[in-house]
Amino acid sequence: MDEKFEWLVQGMMEHEYGTIDDFISPALVTSLRNNLLVRKEKGLMTNAGVGQHSSFQENAKVRMDQISWMEDDQKDPSEESYHRLLWAFIHYLNSTCYTGLNGFESHFAWYAKGSFYKRHLDQFKNDSGRKYSIVLYLNEQWMDCDGGELVMYKGDETITIAPLGGRIVFFESDRIAHEVLPAHRTRMSIAGWMKQI
Ligand code: OGA
Ligand code: MN
Repeated sequence: MDEKFEWLVQGMMEHEYGTIDDFISPALVTSLRNNLLVRKEKGLMTNAGVGQHSSFQENAKVRMDQISWMEDDQKDPSEESYHRLLWAFIHYLNSTCYTGLNGFESHFAWYAKGSFYKRHLDQFKNDSGRKYSIVLYLNEQWMDCDGGELVMYKGDETITIAPLGGRIVFFESDRIAHEVLPAHRTRMSIAGWMKQI
């Protein structure tokens, strides 16, 4: 796994983000996707918010995804192994880059057809705890015509990444503004944040 971690770190150092297509096995992608679908089925995915006091209508102008938080002490074997992997990456970052990370939070995200998330940064104004963002995609056979790309803004440059299952994207939470373009079919992912708390 260390080569994958190193690749992500190199990407971060060279161009402010890292991405890998097969961060986890296809089997783990499938079982995480199934867990998301179960949460959706049980009505556990809820509309994501953008501010503490904003209404659903206000939120929906900015983001339309539904989310379900993952607990850090996982009972579910697939969620547990994904979290273990991310904690291994956190330890790798701390020992190679002195990042001082000591927290992690993540949620499943479900974008219904037509949903998007407008340009934003991942840090909250009143909480700088989020240092690195890491998004894992869970979609089967995503095609160009399916839309839903992640667009990252780096000065004048824009980087567009399709949400292919097993692909991971890693960037600094307060540095890279990004958005999710409208998805033309259901789009599934796990968004995570490595924190200093
Ligand atoms: C987020 C986000 C990007 C993506 O959840 O904050 O920007 O590609 N997600 O799903
Ligand atoms: Mn984001």
